[in-house]
Parts: sequence; C-alpha cells; structure tokens
Amino acid sequence: MELLKCCRILQRIENSIICRKRFHIERKCLNKLEAFKERLESGPQFDDFLREDAINEINKHLTKSEKSGNIAYIAKRSSIAPYIDKRVLDGKQRTVCIETYGCQMNVNDTEIAAKILRDYNYQIVNEVKDANIILLMTCAIREGAEHKIWQRLKYLRSMKQSANNVLKQVGVLGCMAERLKTKLIEKDKLVDIVAGPDSYRDLPKLLAINNLNAVNAVNVLLSMDETYADIVPTVTCDTNEENYLIESPERKLQTAKKAYVSIMRGCDNMCSYCIVPFTRGKERSRDLQSIVNEVKLLTKAGIKEITLLGQNVNSYRCLSDTQQKEEINSHNEYKLSSDGFRTVYKQKIGGLRFDTLLDSVAKVDEEVRFRFTSPHPKDFPSSVLHVINNHRNVCKLVHLPAQSGSNVILEQMRRGYTIEAYLDLVKKMRETIPNVGFSSDFICGYCGETEAQHEQTLDLIDKVKYNYIFVFPYSMREKTHAFHRHVDDVPKDVKNRRVKEVAEVFRRNALKLNEALLGTHQLVLVEGLSKRSNDHFVGRNDLNTKVIFPNVKVKDRTKSSLNDERNVAPGDYVVVEVHKCTSETLTGVPLFITRLADFQVN
Ligand code: 5AD
Ligand code: SF4
Repeated sequence: MELLKCCRILQRIENSIICRKRFHIERKCLNKLEAFKERLESGPQFDDFLREDAINEINKHLTKSEKSGNIAYIAKRSSIAPYIDKRVLDGKQRTVCIETYGCQMNVNDTEIAAKILRDYNYQIVNEVKDANIILLMTCAIREGAEHKIWQRLKYLRSMKQSANNVLKQVGVLGCMAERLKTKLIEKDKLVDIVAGPDSYRDLPKLLAINNLNAVNAVNVLLSMDETYADIVPTVTCDTNEENYLIESPERKLQTAKKAYVSIMRGCDNMCSYCIVPFTRGKERSRDLQSIVNEVKLLTKAGIKEITLLGQNVNSYRCLSDTQQKEEINSHNEYKLSSDGFRTVYKQKIGGLRFDTLLDSVAKVDEEVRFRFTSPHPKDFPSSVLHVINNHRNVCKLVHLPAQSGSNVILEQMRRGYTIEAYLDLVKKMRETIPNVGFSSDFICGYCGETEAQHEQTLDLIDKVKYNYIFVFPYSMREKTHAFHRHVDDVPKDVKNRRVKEVAEVFRRNALKLNEALLGTHQLVLVEGLSKRSNDHFVGRNDLNTKVIFPNVKVKDRTKSSLNDERNVAPGDYVVVEVHKCTSETLTGVPLFITRLADFQVN
C-alpha cells in the first residue's frame, strides 16, 4: 500500500517536470512563431505569392508591350496558347452581372457565358449594384441598338469611378464586340474586355489578364465549328419584343417555364442589308444528339416550352466527320434551290436536316411545346411542313421573314425569292397545316425604296394577314453589300412614316384574325401573373398570342378525380374561352386545366 502511494507521488513529480519542460519548449516555439508572423506581415502576403505566380502564368500569353500595359492583349488565331493553370483563372467568387440586349440568340448566349463563368467560380448576380464585373451582351443589327450600348457604357464608367463602388471590370460581348473590336477599348477607357460571339470560352482568361496585369483584353476570333454544344445552360428567359434585360435567368426559368436551345450559329445568306454574317460568322450546326440531350434535360427540369434558336434554324444540317471532309473537297456549282428560292452559296446536300431534328425533339415529350426562330423562307421543303403538321406539340405559328413586298427591293436585298414564290409557299403551308399562322420581319426605307414599292409591302401584309410582325426602319451597316453598293437615300422621317403605315395595316388585319377567335376555346400555356393585375394570369396560345384570364379556381382534368378544382399555376395548360380581343391580346375565361395531348382544336 505504502509502495503504491510512493509510486503515485513520484509519477506526479515526473509529470510536473515534463509539463514545465514542455511549457518552456512551447513558449520558445510560440515566441519564434510570433516573430515569424511579424516578419511575414510586414513582407508579401501568401495571396501575393499566388498573385505573383498567376501573373507569371498569364504573362506567358502576353508580348512585351502587352505585359507593360502599353497595348491591349488581342487573341490571335496563329498563336498556340500555352496551358493555363485553372487556379489562375479562378473567379474567387467575384460577382458578375450580364445585361442582355437584342435578339433571343443573345439571351441564349448570355446563358452560355454565365455557365462558363460559373464553372470558373464566378458568381452570377442580377443587380448591377452588386457586381464586380458587368458584361453587356450586345447587338449590332441597327445603329439604334449600338447607340444604347454606348450610353450604357458611359454610365458604367462613372459608376466604376465613383468611390465605394464594387465595380471593377466592364466588358462588351456579342455582335458589337465583333464589329468594333479594339475601337471599344480605345474609346475613352469605357471597356476593359471584349469577347465576340465565338469567344465566350475565353472569358475567364480575358478577365484574368485584365485583372492581374491591368491590360485590356480582346478576343473576337470567329470560328468555323464553335457551337458550344457541350455547354448546357441551366437558365432561360422570357422575351419582351426587341430590347430586354435578363434580371434573373434562373428565376424566370422557374416561373415562365420556357427555354431556348441553340441549334446552329452563323449565317451564309449575305442579305445585302445585314451585318449578322460578319459578326456571327459562317453557318454551322450543332450535333443533333447534343440538342436532343439538352431538350431531355430541360423537360425533366419542368420546362414546358422550348424554342429552337439560330440565325437560320431551318438551314440546320448536321454532318458526320466524313461528310464534312467530303464537302470541303467537293466542287458543287451554285444551284437554284427548289420552288423558286435561290441561295448565294453552293447548294448544301446531305446530312441530317431540320425535319429530322424537329421530329426528334418533338418526340421527347408530347406535353412540351416547340417553337423555332428564325427561319428563312428558302428552307421549307414539304417534309418540314409535314413534321409541323404531324406533331400537336409543334406550334403552328411560322415565322416567315418577308422583308419587303417588292420584287425589285427583294432582288436588291439578295433575299433569293420573289413575292410570287413567297406567296406560293404561304399557300402550300396553309394547305398542309390547317390552323397555321404567320409572323414576319419587314424593313422600311431600304436604299432606293419608292412609295410604290412601299405600297407593295402594304399589299403583301393585307394578303397574308400576319398574326405578328416586327418592322424596322432601314439602318445602313458598314461591311454589308448595301454599304458598298447602294445609297441610303430614304429620309429618316419617310422611313418612320412607312414603319407606322406597315404597323397600321398589320394591326387592322391582326384584329380581324383575333376577332375570328371570339367564342373559341384556346389552349394556353400559363406564364405567370399579368403585369397589370395580380388577379389575372397571362399565357400564350399556340399562335403565340397573349391570352389574359382571371385567377380563379378551375377543374383540373389532368387528375384522375375530375372534380378536383384548383388555381392555375405557371406551366399549366389551360383551356380559355375567348370573350374579348385587341390586335395583340385575347381576354377570356379559364374553363379547365388539361394535358396538351388531350386538347381538341376547335
Ligand atoms: N436595318 C434594319 N433592319 C434590319 N434587319 C437586319 N438588318 C437590318 C438593318 N440593317 C432586320 C431584318 C431581320 C431582323 C432580325 O432585323 O428584318 O429579319
Ligand atoms: Fe441577316 Fe439575312 Fe442571315 Fe437573316 S438570313 S441573319 S437577315 S443575312
């Protein structure tokens, strides 16, 4: 017992000696650590070492003058870019707001750019005030569109210069970037980075170059094969006619239940007024399977309406690798297209065409609606018309951009058809697709357009009776055929007066079309609450006309118990009886919720 006591006492003494020793050692270490910390704090930080590394890595891509910041970094086709460590391109959760201007293609491109940046650890935000980086997805199709961007850039520069602002970088993306290239960075230090429509994959690098080296960075190279096929944006947006801003792509995906899927890029048509072939480059189609896969994903995510997008959707043509090689080696002569339609390029033969694609996507889910825009009248063979007619879920509104009702003007525009061929196509479509409707684009005051030629446009609108049209005053664009060969001689006020007259004739006819729908039952895909009143919902019918109806409980016929009543929600198909109309909207009473496949057209 005594021995055990002694042992315990000895053990305690030993522990205390060890503790004291340990205490001394720890103290020494702590002192050393403190001194090291002090030295470190007054010297470069850990982040600085990373930053140094990052700059060295980025410098591999820059010439001497670019490194010094004297000239901008401009991506060149010939340079084989060395590998960049992904950490250098890391966005470190910096916030990016992308504002979108122009067409639906730009909406889709915004989503592609956002997805690329998210993958590099950038955070996409909806509010300009929260953004470290603001990117403008721009349009160059008319002068007015560009003017708006210059104004916006001036505003953003003042924002960037104001104290306490988090905004550090401003970039221009899309068509205006391609058109103006370095002019954008030369002008009054408005822009830090520039990326053309085929350069969005380079965005993390351009932002890093500018951020680390304070050098402006530009990539406006156009590609022969970039389709961003592997980049599946998870976001979408609703359009508001010509110009709109995406505030929250994700939120709109959840509410409007609509999505865009890009199927091809670029254009080979070279209409004489149009800048698009220059800003977006050669026509190329996305692989069919990748499109079908994206459609499957979107339908799984609850999307109810998908619009297939491209500059010339119905010129879609997916080639295998061998077909592509054969094509490059072939020497086809320029040929006349069938049915009175011509092209300025060699006739393209073979490959999977638009009819196959449309048929394939429509089969993915019969409860999802499909639309497509923008097509060209030259690429509507009977097979496409039959696919449209055969699928209930392919909407029957066909966009058929006419541009003018005068054969002389159409010839000068190099549209490749006469009014007679156009009207024959309209007739053929009406015969093949009962309930078909048309929308169109028109340009007023093209070079040399006379009053008589303008009257012919009014006649055409009277004849076809469009459900919707877009009408633009002609705007001369550099680089185009018209810029080199024609004179922009129609005064501005005359162009604007003609635009008003075209709109007026359209409205008169559209009102008649809508009046004919009074009392009918329309299948409406619900988008959300009406902007004007929370007591009303808004949606669109098959022909894309806005339909407004009160937010009341209706029977849900998609359920087994047919007496179930509930309020409608975005994404529902509702049958609405039309009671009132204007030239652009229908108003009615909701009858019941249904499945698209169960709806019988009246
Ligand atoms: N001026 C006016 N409108 C134009 N469009 C294309 N280029 C111009 C231009 N230079 C119109 C055409 C086209 C639509 C997308 O824009 O109508 O179909
Ligand atoms: Fe422009 Fe004509 Fe091509 Fe349309 S088809 S993008 S109007 S060149």
